[in-house]
Amino acid sequence: MRTITHQGMTFEERFTPAQIQEAVTHLAQRINHDYEGRQPLFICVLNGAFVFAADLMRQVSLDCRITFVRLRSYEGTATTGQITELIGLSEDVYHRDVIVVEDIVDTGNTMHYFKHKLEENGATSVRVASLLFKPDALQREDARPDYIGFEVPKHFCIGYGLDLDGLCRNLDAIYTLKQNK
Ligand code: IMP
Ligand code: MG
Repeated sequence: MRTITHQGMTFEERFTPAQIQEAVTHLAQRINHDYEGRQPLFICVLNGAFVFAADLMRQVSLDCRITFVRLRSYEGTATTGQITELIGLSEDVYHRDVIVVEDIVDTGNTMHYFKHKLEENGATSVRVASLLFKPDALQREDARPDYIGFEVPKHFCIGYGLDLDGLCRNLDAIYTLKQNK
């Protein structure tokens, strides 16, 4: 098993590039099936989802568009659920079938906020495709993703777009923080 050490912490490879591609293919097939005959708008949540979105999109065979937003969850010791939009929505979502592409749903605060916003703006439907999902961390039931690549425990994940202080997004696999046994 591959491991890397970063900022004094050890991370173990959890999903190989091949496993990730298999999961992405499976998600794309489900989306192709579910949205047949429709033209969904994909919204990629930067920064973390850029790698996943790029791989997913290339396996989607529907007529579709993609746009980008950049959201940041409130940074502090306590989670308040406050979200900052660093880059907002540039596309009209009124009467559109929207698929939000996320790297990971953790507490669900970000998706809770963003799904509400899309619904307020008149989207016909809003679904979330998240590569990773931490069910044990979820605080907002309405943020449970519709399309999930992998469910993971509440351990910190890096690689394939996910970062540690902005670094490690370029790793080709997904690594999780090694737990002291
Ligand atoms: P939530 O609002 O708590 O669901 O968290 C959403 C955002 O926090 C994700 O889009 C990620 O950007 C970040 N995040 C949560 N867990 C992790 C992790 O394990 N590694 C890297 N980023 C994470
Ligand atoms: Mg994210």
